[in-house]
Amino acid sequence: MSEEINLIIRQAIPDDAENLLYTLNQIRQETDFLTMDENDVNISIEFQRHQLENIYESENNVLILAFDGEKIIGSISVHANSQHRIKHIGEIGISILKEYWGLGLGSILLEEAIYWAKESGIIRRLELTVQKRNQKAIHLYEKFGFQTETIMQRGAVDEQDNFLDVHLMSLLIDPE
Ligand SMILES: CC(C)(COP(=O)(O)OP(=O)(O)OC[C@H]1O[C@@H](n2cnc3c(N)ncnc32)[C@H](O)[C@@H]1OP(=O)(O)O)[C@@H](O)C(=O)NCCC(=O)NCCS
Repeated sequence: MSEEINLIIRQAIPDDAENLLYTLNQIRQETDFLTMDENDVNISIEFQRHQLENIYESENNVLILAFDGEKIIGSISVHANSQHRIKHIGEIGISILKEYWGLGLGSILLEEAIYWAKESGIIRRLELTVQKRNQKAIHLYEKFGFQTETIMQRGAVDEQDNFLDVHLMSLLIDPE
């Protein structure tokens, strides 16, 4: 990417629904490292809008978007449930358009999500799963202090349906 990026980072709002679906559908086709498939993006704009409303109003969920101008180029989510015993556990999901890989955007988004989790006062554990073959992502998570708790055998399958090892990683969040 030779041109400068007009980078904007902010929380998602319901009006981002259509733009977000478009970007997620493109990313889904650009990587084999996500579990997201066509069913996840084959939803109506109205449904996506409703989901974004719920996330925006939630205390323990967030979706942070990266824009190049008006175009959504990446996102990071923290997804948590509402039940009391597990509402402190946030699952991280991150994805970026391929043409923007390797520019430090993943680091910026992960830092934002960790900051948000600390500020939430609710999230005390961030966790994620990542394919062992996705060494770039594992490096990124380790850079921010995530540790591998276990390697899940047969945690996913690849494009030829071969089983893959998957890391379960976590970062404990303590208020500063
Ligand atoms: C994984 C992803 C979010 C990373 O985003 P990014 O913007 O490319 O990441 P950054 O540029 O901030 O950082 C990448 C880091 O990995 C390093 N890296 C690159 N290739 C690597 C490799 N093959 N092995 C190990 N480290 C690697 C870079 O040097 C950099 O490290 P540094 O910051 O210490 O210099 C992005 O590539 C992506 O969206 N991939 C597809 C979806 C995906 O895999 N999501 C994660 C699923 S768990």
